[in-house]
Amino acid sequence: MKTTIKEIGKHVEQSVTIGGWLANKRSSGKIAFLQLRDGTGFIQGVVVKAEVGEETFKLAKELTQESSVYVTGIVRADDRAPSGFELTVTGIELIHEAVDYPITPKEHGTEFLMDHRHLWLRSKRQHAIMRIRNEIIRATYEFFNEQGFVKVDPPILTGSSAEGTTNLFHTKYFDEDAYLSQSGQLYMEAAAMALGKVFSFGPTFRAEKSKTRRHLIEFWMIEPEMAFMDHEESLQVQENYVSSIIQSVLKNCEQELKALERDTAKLEAIKAPFPRISYDDAISFLQEKGYEIEWGEDFGAPHETAIAEAHDKPVFITNYPKDIKAFYMKPHPERDDVVLCADLIAPEGYGEIIGGSQRIDDAELLKERYDEHNLSEDAYGWYLDLRRYGSVPHSGFGLGLERTVAWISGTEHVRETIPFPRLLNRLYP
Ligand code: 4AD
Ligand code: MG
Repeated sequence: MKTTIKEIGKHVEQSVTIGGWLANKRSSGKIAFLQLRDGTGFIQGVVVKAEVGEETFKLAKELTQESSVYVTGIVRADDRAPSGFELTVTGIELIHEAVDYPITPKEHGTEFLMDHRHLWLRSKRQHAIMRIRNEIIRATYEFFNEQGFVKVDPPILTGSSAEGTTNLFHTKYFDEDAYLSQSGQLYMEAAAMALGKVFSFGPTFRAEKSKTRRHLIEFWMIEPEMAFMDHEESLQVQENYVSSIIQSVLKNCEQELKALERDTAKLEAIKAPFPRISYDDAISFLQEKGYEIEWGEDFGAPHETAIAEAHDKPVFITNYPKDIKAFYMKPHPERDDVVLCADLIAPEGYGEIIGGSQRIDDAELLKERYDEHNLSEDAYGWYLDLRRYGSVPHSGFGLGLERTVAWISGTEHVRETIPFPRLLNRLYP
């Protein structure tokens, strides 16, 4: 019977066939141990010469790394095996012989691995990270669907910018100028006025000249937007959402977390509510710790890490100065120098994973912001319309998928959290 490594536990003591690749191999004169992978998981196949005969044993011994095979064998339960099962091989059919696979079991440098990303994805570590990414996406759809949100897809090619004009990707749209989307937010606000609670999930682009472990040029964002919700209500959605994806990964990716040697005790503690600290207090905290930072400046990675280290859960930094945040954020009702916004900082130094805010709902105030930020009514008139026809308080946020995957999987650099990373100086493969 044909099956997969993931499903193999349903066939203990039965004969099964799996299509897979040889990940690694050990052998002696009489026995060969094949590390097999099939995309769903990894399993060891044991080939005993006395049982399979000369020809199959020779094939097993000569099998090269990443050759593709159909392997038939009897499934054995084995507590020592990471997957809990082992295969006593009875037959091997070679599909295709791989010659000189470049990624050998020895250590390779990062640039070499990045050049071979199309093959590197096959490794046990990358396999585990991609499955965790998939689980976060699955849990995201589940969470928002259960909460009554509608998935809406904003455009990728746009005529306006949501997050400032400094890092826009410019392209031609026939005779017009266009930009790759930095954020779907402005469109999601329009969608929230049509559908109430909405979320998007899609690629976003920022031509950032930053070469850090947290920055990608192309990254994926989840952007919920909610009509009739103020800032505090939005924070509650955020903490419940983040808790729910953590708990889903803990439940459904046990083997992957183990393969990555992730300290799961740290993740188990991540349950709503999350602590909140104002920007003002964060500045005082950092100054007391000896950092040279003044009120009005934005935080850098070391600042975020210092704040995160003081907490064992993600922490919201709220009410940033208006001058360092986007034009659309609603001013604080009692202070005009700060806005109703928050960044969510992940623990363990993984940095900002969410940026969110309540949006300006007053047409006159928004127009003032257009003037301050040199935004033309030609390009942003439609966005102003949302404040002209039944304007309501509304809030939303954007969660960066790759930074979230990095945190949950315990991966140092975001380049390993997306199948084909687009980085400064890397557009290949
Ligand atoms: O804080 P940002 O810029 O917020 C927005 O774009 C809002 N319009 C979202 C909204 O309210 N709908 O970006 C949101 C998140 C960040 O917290 C971070 O996790 C991620 O997107 N992010 C990046 N991830 C990887 N590489 C980059 N260059 C990123 N820039 C932002
Ligand atoms: Mg931000």
